[in-house]
Amino acid sequence: MNNQNTVDKEHAVYLPQDEMPTHWYNILADLPEPLPPPLDPRTLKPMSPEPLLRLFAKEVVMQEVSTERFIKIPDEVYDAYLCLPRPTPLLRARRLEKYLNTPAQIYYKCEYVNPTGSHKPNTALAQAYYNMVEGNKRLVTETGAGQWGSALAMAAAVFGLECSVYMVRASFDQKPGRRVMMETMGADVTASPSRHTKFGKSILESDPNNTGSLGIAISEAIEDCLAHETTRYCLGSVLNHVLLHQTIIGQEAKKQFEMIDVEPNIISGCIGGGSNFAGFAYPFIADKLKSKSATQYVACEPKAVPSTTRGVYTYDFGDTAEITPLIKMYTIGHKYQPPPIHAGGLRYHGKAPSLCYLINKGYVSSVAYSQTEVFEAARILAQTEGMITAPETAHTVKYVIDEALRCKSTGERKVIAFNNCGHGLLDLQAYDAFRNGRLEDYEPSNIEVPKFIP
Ligand SMILES: Cc1ncc(COP(=O)(O)O)c(C=O)c1O
Repeated sequence: MNNQNTVDKEHAVYLPQDEMPTHWYNILADLPEPLPPPLDPRTLKPMSPEPLLRLFAKEVVMQEVSTERFIKIPDEVYDAYLCLPRPTPLLRARRLEKYLNTPAQIYYKCEYVNPTGSHKPNTALAQAYYNMVEGNKRLVTETGAGQWGSALAMAAAVFGLECSVYMVRASFDQKPGRRVMMETMGADVTASPSRHTKFGKSILESDPNNTGSLGIAISEAIEDCLAHETTRYCLGSVLNHVLLHQTIIGQEAKKQFEMIDVEPNIISGCIGGGSNFAGFAYPFIADKLKSKSATQYVACEPKAVPSTTRGVYTYDFGDTAEITPLIKMYTIGHKYQPPPIHAGGLRYHGKAPSLCYLINKGYVSSVAYSQTEVFEAARILAQTEGMITAPETAHTVKYVIDEALRCKSTGERKVIAFNNCGHGLLDLQAYDAFRNGRLEDYEPSNIEVPKFIP
């Protein structure tokens, strides 16, 4: 189905706007069995979704438990996607291939092409829209590196809502540009742990220099939400509805590969909570679940926060203060204090339950890298493709380069596709530290995961 106007086989594949998918894809409809349910930590019994209604917009709670295969994108969200703009291009990294002298073909989906520079608006716009329709006035959230906070600040501005963001202190200090971006869009931003919440205060009392974590910032945002009647909480990853909204990425990519008659052999992405990886991969994994495809799926994480490569597949809390239900996932323990690596979006102790299920059953594999090696991969990408990627995305770039070099040694002509889920233009301090040899690598020597289920 080649379309001469929209396909340049050598470099880029553009999907026309009128072919953008109209529905999100829900993988829960196609899993071989239902996911292990969230549990009430007091009774260890499955939890009903009702308590979530105080935290989230009603529509996203419905989506969280839905097993409908396709869910319609509301017209207002669809229009907002078109303005980002979407569809995003699929690019062939020819100069990188040439530099590596590999027979492999490398493609990437450009999710950094929007005003906030990452994939996060795909769910931020949907969550802000549903809250606006349901009459909520203010959104509260946490952010690690600041991409999610920026996306929610932008989406709140688009749909006329107030927005407050608890930003992990390590990133608040490393990335002032992200704070300024959120404030310019109208959000207020607080370094976490903070004195705004009881939980934040308790952390600071025992450790005034605590650099924060996503788990702590989530606890603070939830406490803030519960204290304000017309405020709702939004999460940028992990939950089913977030991954659902991100599937616009993979559905577009599928159509783009069909346009050039190419089938990827490997699909890769980085994982913090799992949303960009899932958004890119799940529409392809749908075929694998029906045994129609031999494509490999590879998720990349930091050695400093090795949830899926060294963690345990068990029930754990999603936050540090133990407010959330227990969810079954790969975890390194909700009390784990992630070291201050620059990939702030990957500093989360657990991962999305659906992704963890797929890893546990062998549909998806995972690898871990240290931060100096991923920045070296990002340097190669910058000097070949002219694109400075986010430190998070650099993890998948490292994998792709290694795999392409492996193909060089075996002569395999594999098609490797990755989700280029963010730019690094507000991470230049991290690039500077890398260039000047000031980056440190971290790895936990010992991982302790609490056991809630006998
Ligand atoms: C650019 C980028 N990539 C990846 C992530 C990790 O999140 P997820 O695994 O949900 O995509 C983040 C989170 O902040 C991010 O900003």
